[in-house]
Amino acid sequence: MRMTDLIAKKRDGGRLTTEEIEWLIRGYVSGEVPDYQMSALCMAILFRGMDDTEVLDLTMSMMRSGETLDLSPIRGVKTDKHSTGGVGDKTSLVLCPMVAACGAKIAKMSGRGLGHTGGTIDKLESFPGFVTGISEERFFENVNRIGIAIAGQTAEVCPADKKLYALRDVTGTVPSIPLIVSSIMSKKLAAGADVIVLDVKCGSGAFMKTPEQARELAEGLTRVGRLAGRKCAAVITDMDEPLGFAVGNALEVREAIDVLAGRSEAGELLELCLTLGSFMLSLGGLAENEDEARARLRATIADGSALAKLADMVEAQYGDARAVYDTSLLPAAACVVEVPAASAGYVKHIEAENVGLVSMHLGGGRATKESEIDLSVGVVLHKKVGDRVEAGESLASDAAKAAEAAELLRRCYTLSGEPVAREPFIKGVVR
Ligand code: URA
Repeated sequence: MRMTDLIAKKRDGGRLTTEEIEWLIRGYVSGEVPDYQMSALCMAILFRGMDDTEVLDLTMSMMRSGETLDLSPIRGVKTDKHSTGGVGDKTSLVLCPMVAACGAKIAKMSGRGLGHTGGTIDKLESFPGFVTGISEERFFENVNRIGIAIAGQTAEVCPADKKLYALRDVTGTVPSIPLIVSSIMSKKLAAGADVIVLDVKCGSGAFMKTPEQARELAEGLTRVGRLAGRKCAAVITDMDEPLGFAVGNALEVREAIDVLAGRSEAGELLELCLTLGSFMLSLGGLAENEDEARARLRATIADGSALAKLADMVEAQYGDARAVYDTSLLPAAACVVEVPAASAGYVKHIEAENVGLVSMHLGGGRATKESEIDLSVGVVLHKKVGDRVEAGESLASDAAKAAEAAELLRRCYTLSGEPVAREPFIKGVVR
């Protein structure tokens, strides 16, 4: 086989066979296929697309490029969730303990944050002592014993995706739906769950800017999941403003704990967790239908079992579980600066991506993979889209080492003289 032939075939609108796809992924990982030829192929895929069989073949070849997790030693229904990434997205911290408290097994591999989006692994490290790099043996033991473990994704999972994603990032080929689907699903399939629920973010703070693009991605992801023999559903949700109120690692953990403790719904965060969780339980056969699943999930908040599950996980991963019940033990910033509104009005828009960047610049996120982060810093929004604000009233606050981000944060807000209606948060569902 010759890479030039495969590039030309895709450039002319042809379809790649299973053998060709397997050959090119193996060749790319081993270094026989050079970056410049792979970039040309990615660009041809971006323009010409791929059919379902090609996307499935690409996904499976990428999955097989590294380690896959065999979850069969874990008893029960293994469920997983993935978000395409947003600002203030602490969903896993709330959802996973709730679902585990209902009897599903969560054996989850998560990532670190990069750029304006955060990562679950960094957030969990806000618990003093928490270890995300636990051994595979401990990971399996924890899931069997308490029903939940969340660990960092190892370098051995999907090396093809790591190499290909870095290439796409610098060749303008990230926004290709077949390439995004194979990138996400290769990692999710490698993680081994029976049920996979996907939260596809849509809006200014997300990869997918329009509901149409988000639906296309959601349909692509669920189709590949099902073709690979997993139970899959996707929810398309708003990312035109940050999710909930807190952005920043320890601040988001506090907000997640408040939801699990029943003290807050954190805007739409609880609703999102009930929706995703109801799919996880019903697809996994742990509830008769989505309504029953929702009721059971709500009960885990009312009876404290979801919060207790989070504490069990923190303890089982060597963290200080007292922080679940006493959040003053979490890292806290030295300085909190309020951001007063310059004029009165209604909040029309909050530039989610820029709020994420403010938190990153305060030290809460990574500009490069090597950056050190400060778990204590971030942003708390006091006003969300549709809210009325008076001149001088605080729009948001930034928690940092020094007062530095107020003006940047103020510029994330657009106010309107007229009342602003909120758009629906859940924009679609793909079952
Ligand atoms: N997230 C991924 O893991 N891969 C993509 O290609 C896009 C988002």
